[in-house]
Amino acid sequence: MCGIVGYIGNREAYPIVAKGLQRLEYRGYDSAGIAIYGNGELKYSKTKGKVADMRRKLEAEIDPSGTIALGHTRWATHGVPNDINSHPHFSNSGNLVIIHNGIIENYDALKKELTSRGYSFSSDTDTEVLVNLIEDVIVKEGVKLGKAVQMTLNQVVGAYAIAVFDRRKPNEIVVARLGSPLAIGIGKDEYFIASDASPFIEYTNNVIYLEDGEVAVVRKEKGIKVRKIEDDTMVDPYVQELQLNLEQIEKGGFDHFMLKEIFEQPAAIRDTYRGRLLADEGIVSMAGVDDNLERFLNAKRIIVVACGTSWHAGLVSEYLIEELTRIPVEVEYASEFRYRNPIINRDDVVIAISQSGETADTMAAIKLAKERGAFVFGVCNVVGSSIARETHAGAYTHAGPEIGVASTKAFTTQITILALIALKLAKAKGTISKSDFQMHLQELETIPQKIEVALESNDAIREVAFRYKDARNCIYLGRGCNFPVALEGALKLKEISYIHAEGYPAAEMKHGPIALIDEEMPVVVIATRKGHYEKVVSNIQEIKSRKGKIIAIINEGDTSVRELADHVIEVPETMESLSPLVNTIPLQLLSYHIAVMLNKNVDQPRNLAKSVTVE
Ligand code: F6R
Repeated sequence: MCGIVGYIGNREAYPIVAKGLQRLEYRGYDSAGIAIYGNGELKYSKTKGKVADMRRKLEAEIDPSGTIALGHTRWATHGVPNDINSHPHFSNSGNLVIIHNGIIENYDALKKELTSRGYSFSSDTDTEVLVNLIEDVIVKEGVKLGKAVQMTLNQVVGAYAIAVFDRRKPNEIVVARLGSPLAIGIGKDEYFIASDASPFIEYTNNVIYLEDGEVAVVRKEKGIKVRKIEDDTMVDPYVQELQLNLEQIEKGGFDHFMLKEIFEQPAAIRDTYRGRLLADEGIVSMAGVDDNLERFLNAKRIIVVACGTSWHAGLVSEYLIEELTRIPVEVEYASEFRYRNPIINRDDVVIAISQSGETADTMAAIKLAKERGAFVFGVCNVVGSSIARETHAGAYTHAGPEIGVASTKAFTTQITILALIALKLAKAKGTISKSDFQMHLQELETIPQKIEVALESNDAIREVAFRYKDARNCIYLGRGCNFPVALEGALKLKEISYIHAEGYPAAEMKHGPIALIDEEMPVVVIATRKGHYEKVVSNIQEIKSRKGKIIAIINEGDTSVRELADHVIEVPETMESLSPLVNTIPLQLLSYHIAVMLNKNVDQPRNLAKSVTVE
């Protein structure tokens, strides 16, 4: 986690780095700092709190002029968020400046060793150990900064994306990565360094994504030299041209990124299926699946690995894939899978789902599955991300940048991709009739329009939110493929409003959780018509008779549930297997409005970060 930004060139570095950090705040926002070299001086400011707090402090304290700078926005791992633990960190001599995203696992042993040789540390961070180790190598070995970084990194265990410069040689920045992302933007006689390309998108479209285990020396006049950290071999870096534009990473008139991203879902889903869903021709075209069709068709089992919301999308896909293809599916938390010696066979297909494509646990699960011979297929949103590159094949969701920390459009576009995969495999295996296949394609094509209708309930949902904003707990219920939607609804409420919420399969209530029901307990029930409608109606009655307050998601024209429920939110009807795509929308809006009414930071909820690159 954490966001890093750097600049070296002929412009003023501070405004570029400061604005870049604000764009990367989704990666961590408990403290921030910037160091600038200008007019022969190394100047810095760092503080607990948001980038905006740091900017105010910095602008009051120092003259930020200078043409080289490094900045950091932090999600604390080692040491509490405070001014001292904030980055950048400095070596004991004050010559070296570092910013770091990741964790150095053997930092304690290294710190003891350095302490015994006279180094001292002011912070509790692993990063301060790293920068002093680099300094120690320079002093002991008499090597240049690039070489010293490389030699140091060969001694450390852990994950990192780092950027370092030496105040005595302010014409170069050395960067390296292992397990945490690092992009280098290439301008004319200027370079931008960042955790992703958003900080420099208005300056250049040309970017190098450093690969794991690479170190690069970025020089103002002489360009970039990339080497492998382990064996010093030179690497010819691949320069990509980005498609990203500024508009995609701005709020576009919405109060929050989360709301913008909720409303973007119809367009995002269309982008996901564009060129893939060819309803008129009766074809699903996906290169990653087409090229590996035999692997999929011969799969005895599909194992889905993911975390959080992506794991919920995986759970929805379990219903879809099993129903349509009859291939058994197991859905695993990546964090559990990687540590439990799972049974993985060579004929298993592993599907890894990740919006960011950087989640450390999902990455580790992929590596384990590959080691054991499985074919791994990635479903990622961020193009060129680590997971996209680590998997054998994959499909991008094309949802566009998701900046709100609470995932919304990533979820529905992941389900869209997984539905396309399920349909494609079902057709190839012959487990779906021609007419059923065609009906699914046509219905999937109408989903964006149905979501547009669901979004029209925004005002009605705001009223329901007002009624329940002070609840201390909330239960979400669904059945079948809407059980994962209940889990996702509960997660959305927890993470942005900090109200305790739980999702359950509706029928599980009577096995324990029903004891929680009283007149204080709001229960959000997904009660749309297809699937297990009658059963859900009975579940609603059970809750009603214990005085629980029912907020029901129903289909237009449903009078039975309307009579039973305290509040209803209508969504258009669709086929059961695709209903999660529509039914999720009111749950996203409900949690959004509650969080806004409670005055919470919707886009940057406490303790969270968008890209979880630590275990
Ligand atoms: C919840 C949320 C997280 C992520 C999880 C996995 O709103 O955003 O639960 O879904 O951290 O992240 P990715 O999909 O980037 O691997």
